[in-house]
Amino acid sequence: MYAFFIRTFEGSKTQVELLKEKIRQDGKVLSEEVLKVDSFLNHQIDPVLMQEIGKEFVARFSDQNITKIVTIESSGIAPATMAGLILGVPVVFARKRKSLTLTDHLYSAKVHSFTKNESNDISVSKDFISNEDTVLLIDDFLANGQAALGLIDIAEQAGAKIAGVGIVIEKAFQPGGELIRKAGIRLESLAELQSLQDGKVQFVGEEAF
Ligand code: G4P
Repeated sequence: MYAFFIRTFEGSKTQVELLKEKIRQDGKVLSEEVLKVDSFLNHQIDPVLMQEIGKEFVARFSDQNITKIVTIESSGIAPATMAGLILGVPVVFARKRKSLTLTDHLYSAKVHSFTKNESNDISVSKDFISNEDTVLLIDDFLANGQAALGLIDIAEQAGAKIAGVGIVIEKAFQPGGELIRKAGIRLESLAELQSLQDGKVQFVGEEAF
């Protein structure tokens, strides 16, 4: 009975409204550049919210014949898996570290994190993406765009068709969004942050909170 009421209540809101409400309630502004969301996305995961996020990605790319979701470990995996579950297609995550069993036969790309000031080689086995795939690339955050560009690079090496990039939270004040659009790739970001100034979250087109 309780679950029924929760579902009915949440059903009256759009997926994007639910996500923004969660960010306003539980997000912590750490600096003008960093939003902490480890209570539902980056450490502890809210699976009900992730499911709604998955639905929204699937709805936005419903005109594409997606055969695979591709993401990057670790925080992209939860939203990507929900989208894959709804579509009934496999989810592949790029690895940041070489695994014991994944040694060659790889597509690789270099990803530099400006935030962490470190570079990682990300890789995906050639077994799991091919030129017969239409891939949707999903990640939790879009900041400088380097992770997304690395995934695009890998999909292109495989000869896959790229349906687009789906992002849970885009920091619109950083250059990632523009880089992806300039590359001619469709970008769908569910929550777009205009600014994190004065300890407040401001979404694009809305007042600061
Ligand atoms: P970029 O990929 O867009 O260039 O981003 P950047 O190098 O700046 O980000 C590096 C890591 O920090 C990524 O996670 C990214 O998701 C995360 N990140 C960037 N900005 C924020 C932010 O404002 N808040 C939070 N919570 N994370 C942010 P990662 O190192 O790959 O971590 P994970 O996926 O293993 O969790």
